Amino acid sequence: MRQLIAGNWKMFGKLADIAGFAAAVKTAPAGVDLLICPPFTLLERFAAALAASSVAIGGQDCHATAQGPHTGDISAAMLMEAGATHVILGHSERRADHGENNAVVRAKAEAAIAAGLIPIICVGETEAEREAGEAEHVVRSQLLHSLPSGFAGVVAYEPVWAIGTGRTPTEEDVTAMHAAIRAGLGAQFGAAGSAVRILYGGSVKPGNAATLLALPEVGGALVGGASLQAEDFLAIAQAALRG
Ligand code: 13P
Repeated sequence: MRQLIAGNWKMFGKLADIAGFAAAVKTAPAGVDLLICPPFTLLERFAAALAASSVAIGGQDCHATAQGPHTGDISAAMLMEAGATHVILGHSERRADHGENNAVVRAKAEAAIAAGLIPIICVGETEAEREAGEAEHVVRSQLLHSLPSGFAGVVAYEPVWAIGTGRTPTEEDVTAMHAAIRAGLGAQFGAAGSAVRILYGGSVKPGNAATLLALPEVGGALVGGASLQAEDFLAIAQAALRG
């Protein structure tokens, strides 16, 4: 399976950053899928800057309904209209900052799919949950309750304690969790579960990307901080080709 390297810009980035970044990522090697998820305000301009390339654009959230009186929210169709093909849903920062639970994430995923977007559903345990030996149980439960029936999107395993900290799980722990996620997807969706890409996210950098991306059942990376610099993002894309 081709690997997907997705950049989550979170609440970073300015209009002035787009032209240089887009020009650089257009030079990315073939053989790896690239996706940038900038803040909403940059989506349309980013999509235009990347129009002649295979680099895709995505949102970082969408509402569970198609339209309505929801101040500050954005619908899946609006993301599509701005040029997005993907949307990140259920990121741990949204689960924490906005109280999004599995049912909310599932409803958003259904809305995204109905509008024609590919959802990237984030799952991952906290440090306390890992220390309590509950990491796999927590992640399996998130999968069971966040993924709608017939799910054909992407799953991103992002241990909360590895996000923005420079810490990553051991190779053994990533391997074990990705195997558990693959088994869970199989139990939930049968044969279709084997086609779901499982990304790893949490402190992916040029220096550790090749190792992480080479692990079994790692189908790409969801990259935060290192996706803001085109040079680092491209280095991770290169590492995917070796993974
Ligand atoms: P960092 O790569 O900055 O740790 O962020 C990971 C992440 O949250 C991507 O969604």
